[in-house]
Amino acid sequence: MAKLATGRVLTKSSALLDEFNASLPFDKVLYQEDIKGSLAHAQMLESQGIITTEELLKIKEGLEQISSEIEAGSFVFDISDEDIHMAIEKRLTEMIGDAGKKLHTARSRNDQVALDFRLFVQKSNRQMIELLRKLERVLLRIAKDHTETMLPGMTHLQHAQPINFAYHMLAYMSMFKRDIERFESSYERADLSPIGCAALAGTPHPIDRQKTSKLLGFKEPTINCLDTVSDRDFALEILFNISVMMTHISRLSEELILWSSSEFNFVSLSDDYSTSSSIMPQKKNPDVPELLRGKTGRVYGNLISLLTVLKGLPLAYNKDMQEDKEGVFDSVETARISLEILREALDTMTINVARMEEACKVGHLSATDLADYLVQKCQIPFRDAYKLTGRLVAECEEKGIDLSEISLEELQHVDRRIEADVLEHLDLRSSMNARDSYGGTATNRAKEQIAYFEGWLENV
Ligand code: ARG
Repeated sequence: MAKLATGRVLTKSSALLDEFNASLPFDKVLYQEDIKGSLAHAQMLESQGIITTEELLKIKEGLEQISSEIEAGSFVFDISDEDIHMAIEKRLTEMIGDAGKKLHTARSRNDQVALDFRLFVQKSNRQMIELLRKLERVLLRIAKDHTETMLPGMTHLQHAQPINFAYHMLAYMSMFKRDIERFESSYERADLSPIGCAALAGTPHPIDRQKTSKLLGFKEPTINCLDTVSDRDFALEILFNISVMMTHISRLSEELILWSSSEFNFVSLSDDYSTSSSIMPQKKNPDVPELLRGKTGRVYGNLISLLTVLKGLPLAYNKDMQEDKEGVFDSVETARISLEILREALDTMTINVARMEEACKVGHLSATDLADYLVQKCQIPFRDAYKLTGRLVAECEEKGIDLSEISLEELQHVDRRIEADVLEHLDLRSSMNARDSYGGTATNRAKEQIAYFEGWLENV
């Protein structure tokens, strides 16, 4: 069939141009959004007397049939139609004649694509929030089970102070909570209807943008048409939000990879979420967290690509903007599967409690507690207490024992004011529970944080 829009350019385009110019191969996923937008636009045209009720009915029926054809796989996609907007409009006109040709009154593909893409991004914002909530519930379940499970908290990947595993999971819960809030706030900001902006300057037709906005479920129409057809901030935001979220997923993945190594052996990923080596029969590899870490790179790439595409564009629409979609589709799909598989992997992993607690006996984790004891009990200035403790740690190293195993006599040798109560301070569990400042790791504080997240999850 001949091209629908044969305007200034009269010759048939070359096959190479069709291939280069088309977005149809990837923007066909927007068909639902396109049909939804057209239905609302047509309804508004009718209520404004721009098209007749009969024409509206024909358009509705036609669009519904097109939707079924696409879903059934019988719709013929022709790359020379360029994009999903033209493909649907052409088929509609084929089916219903002149009424189909009137649908594009007071509309341009510039506001049409801005609408379709925005609807897709809004749907994706909601999808991300839902998947993050499910992930949070699994993390919360793990946290609840492990408020007493001690492991070495680290800085510089060196043993630092004892913490509990619930507290560690709650740190990730905090990150994913911020992610949810970012998707929510982006959703709010983008909740404005672009349709009716036409090419760039509005339209002389007596349209009602408030009406289409309401029909499509937006808060209100955008205020400036020139900005609206040029704006892809909503796409940048979802790419950024996914990038930050994947950073969190990647950091957790890195920990899962370390923790499942023989050196740590803190967790074992279930066989369902591990893979084997093609040559080494004994191996169980953490491919899931490795891929999650790797996929983080590609979503960063999508963000940088779109920022770069947009940065030099004069107002309003430029064809460069057709490059906005694939990266977003890819990032959303990558994020979807990542969130799902991470949740499953966490939900099915075994936590090796004994091994984590065993690891706390390495690295003199209660050294800060001894220094604090010397400050409180013996009135030694903190810097001197720090030095004294450092010397004791060095002695323990020589003897091949952990500071928590040192005898009272040895300690009293350093300062006679030290009493038997010091041993309690050196005990690793007491050391963990001593950190009961607000937001700290003590079991009672971890439980307080669990209650906070539980309350939040019920309402989010
Ligand atoms: N396929 C185009 C895109 O994805 C739709 C908008 C085309 N507008 C235009 N004036 N050529 O950006």
